This record gives sequence, C-alpha cells and structure tokens, in this order.
Amino acid sequence: MGEYSSLGDVAGKRVLVRSDLNVPLDGTTITDDGRIRASVPTIQALAAAGARVVVTAHLGRPKGAPEDRYSLAPVAARLGELLGADVAFATDTVGDAARAVVDGLADGEVALLENVRFNPGETSKDDAERGAFADQLAALADAFVSDGFGVVHRKQASVYDVAQRLPHAMGGLVAAEIDVLRRLTVEPERPYVVVLGGSKVSDKLGVIDNLLAKADKLLIGGGMVFTFLKAQGHEVGKSLLEDDQLDTCRAYLQRAEESGVQILLPGDVVVDTAFPSGERTPEPTVVAADAIPADALGLDIGPASGADFAAALADARTVFWNGPMGVFEVAQFADGTRAVADALTKVTEAGGLSVVGGGDSAAAVRALGFDEAAFGHISTGGGASLEYLEGKELPGITVLED
Ligand code: 3PG
Ligand code: MG
Repeated sequence: MGEYSSLGDVAGKRVLVRSDLNVPLDGTTITDDGRIRASVPTIQALAAAGARVVVTAHLGRPKGAPEDRYSLAPVAARLGELLGADVAFATDTVGDAARAVVDGLADGEVALLENVRFNPGETSKDDAERGAFADQLAALADAFVSDGFGVVHRKQASVYDVAQRLPHAMGGLVAAEIDVLRRLTVEPERPYVVVLGGSKVSDKLGVIDNLLAKADKLLIGGGMVFTFLKAQGHEVGKSLLEDDQLDTCRAYLQRAEESGVQILLPGDVVVDTAFPSGERTPEPTVVAADAIPADALGLDIGPASGADFAAALADARTVFWNGPMGVFEVAQFADGTRAVADALTKVTEAGGLSVVGGGDSAAAVRALGFDEAAFGHISTGGGASLEYLEGKELPGITVLED
C-alpha cells in the first residue's frame, strides 16, 4: 500500500480508480484479458484496505454517446472473476445509475462505471467541457488513484482533470510501468536493441528519432518496413506504403549510418497476393526483400530475417519491442513475430531486460502461447510507452506531481 500512503487511511473512503480496461473483444467475448489482469492488484489492494473502490475506464473509441458494442459489461464480469468478488456494474458513468451503485458500496467492495467515453466531456479538447465532466466524476469519490497506464498520454477528464479535483496518488501499475521505462531511458545496459513493427512508420517517427541517439541497434519489421525498403529503392508491390514518409525514412537510414547505429531491415519477406481474410486459404511465398513481385503484398518478415533478427538480439542486455513483425493473427504470417518473441525470452534467460511494449505486441506474445514470465516486462500501454520513450511529457503523470 506504500504507493497510496499519501491518501492516508482509505478505509471507508470512496476511491475512484482510473484503469485501462480497453481489451480486444469479439462481440462480447474478451479475446485478451491482459489489461484486466494487470489492473487487478491495485483494485485488490485498495479493497483490502477497506476502500469503496469505484473503477472508471474506457473501451474503444465511441464518439461521446452510448453504443452497445463498446459497453464495459463483459469487462465487469471478467473483473469480478479475477477479483473473486462481485463487481457492481453501473450502466451509466456519472448519472443516476452510477450514483446509486456508488451509494450502495460497502467498505471493501468494487464497482465499475460504464465506458467513460460515452460522455463527450471525457475526450473534449475544451478545458471547460472536460472540467465540467471531471467535476461530476469527482463528485462520486473522496480520492483518486491513477492506474490506467495505457491512457496516461491522454489529456482526458478521467485521466487528467479529475486528478486536479481530488486528493490523488499513482497506482501500482503505473508506478511499475514508469519504473521499467526509466530503466530503458537512463543508462540502459548495453547492447540496447530496439525492435519496431506494426503498420505505420508515421506512428513511430518520434520514437525512432529519439532512439537513434540511444539504441545500439534498431530492427524494423511489420507493415512499416515497406516504406523503409522503398526508401532504399526497392519495389514493394501492393505492400503497405506511406509515400509521404519516404524522405523521412531515407533521412533515418542516413543518420543511423553517420552515428554508428545499426538499422537492420529484413532480407526476405513472406508475401501473398491478397490480405488474409474470410474463406480464402493464405498462400504464403518467401521472396527476397529486393524482389517483391508487383502483385504481392508483404505480410511477415521471412525465415532468414527471423534468424537474423534473433542473432542481432542474442547479445542484447536491454531490449524494447513494439509492434508485431507481421499479421500474427494468421498462422501463416506469425513466424516473424514468434522469432522475435522467442529471442526476447532468451535475453531474459541470460539476465537481460526484455520489454514488450504494449497493445498488439503484448496481445501477440500471449496469443502465440508464450509464458508472460519469460519477459522482463509486458507493458499495458502502446502509445503511452512510445510517448515516454520519445521524451514527451505524459499529462496523466505530470498532473500527479502537482
Ligand atoms: C490503447 O488501447 O492504446 C489505450 O487504451 C488508449 O486508447 P486510445 O488510443 O483510444 O486513447
Ligand atoms: Mg492507442
């Protein structure tokens, strides 16, 4: 309970906890409950200390109004299973249902409020509108614990404004995440290798910029690699391409060369003539990265590249990995992601620090059957960890320091 000591004795107090329970759903079935599991210890600790715990969270990106498919109801059920206790679910966020549920809580009990993004005030860019909504949230509680690491880069009412209205503390999950990110930033043990994937270069520009000055090697795969390959003068067929980033990629390659940072791109890729979907059976073919046929699109790094990437990771003492190497959801295009995940587990075994950075890559290692304990840390925040590594200020963290 050390983290929450600034709040004093929480017994009998209503504590609003912002968690990130934004999990992937297939209808109402949760396909990866990693974020819910990661949120349990803080909620449990507060409940054990006798707090009346009121959890607020978002799911997806609804446009400020209720939408069934974004309801947190399935999440409330799963949270209850994991806590081994009933979770009272409020069918609205700050309305009559929420007030009734909060009023009905006994010491040590837990409630979950409906998706906070069903209210336009949550994500409003207008300070007054956000503030008015934060007033309503704050009225439900006596104190605030910020534990939604995946949203600390968002200046939103339940992350930022509410902390200005209640006695507040950092939750254990946020504290643990920040601790690991600090180890990646302040004198990381070398060699420090970064693996980046995912679909868009444009999402990773800031982090590449920053890491080119910090990492020893940068391995690039995923959809974003085709913009790099094109920047090197190769044709990429129908692969994902961000034409407007070609110059930026060229500049990165140049800068890396000048500063002695090794950028490793795949030498072979797995292609198909269509993106995997529906009934069609995938027809994977391995081609050289400089010989992608005009009618093909790249869906994974190839087997030789998987081995190259693993070799480049073999002596790493610090690794940060964000973004899958291919369309890992489809078995035929999962080998590159599996090879990288496997290489990270070996870094852990050898006593190094391996960090899987959030969102898709975290879901990927679980979906591919890896034991979470085989990694030094699996972050619950994709965008948040990237922005931290970019050196940006995270509003949800700074607000806690005031
Ligand atoms: C995420 O999934 O990245 C976090 O839950 C934040 O969601 P957002 O990107 O919609 O703000
Ligand atoms: Mg996001």
